[in-house]
Amino acid sequence: MIALACDHTGLDLKKEIKLLLDEMGLEYQDFGTDTPDSCDYPVYGYRAAKAVADGLCERGILICGTGVGIGIAASKVPGTRVCTCSDVYTAELSKRHNNSNILTMGARVVGVDLAKMIARHWLEAEFEGGRHQRRIDLISAIERGESL
Ligand code: RB5
Repeated sequence: MIALACDHTGLDLKKEIKLLLDEMGLEYQDFGTDTPDSCDYPVYGYRAAKAVADGLCERGILICGTGVGIGIAASKVPGTRVCTCSDVYTAELSKRHNNSNILTMGARVVGVDLAKMIARHWLEAEFEGGRHQRRIDLISAIERGESL
């Protein structure tokens, strides 16, 4: 299950991402927003991020104007590893090396085709584990308030 969320700037792109997920045979849950009315991205970013952190969804794709605000909001939810990006390489490596579980993109930054390509590469990528797991464990330690 993929968690989806956006603010008013990301509605159209979210619809396109839904088409991609349909094409890939992946289920999704949409945490809003559902209207073009101006809204606050932390609300929707939080709801989708919480679903990922709680294990209700395996991954999340979140969209705002730049991808930054909704990414910052999502990253405040413990257990998330957020990748805000506008290129395929970073998106893919963020899964393979950093086990990112949330991808955010900017609807005002990337075009539809690029956004779908980024999402597809990210969704198809798999975490490589090994030495990368050790680093993820250190990130989790920071999250628990431990000193490194
Ligand atoms: C809304 O105008 C815009 O600030 C928001 O979509 C996002 O880009 C924030 O990071």
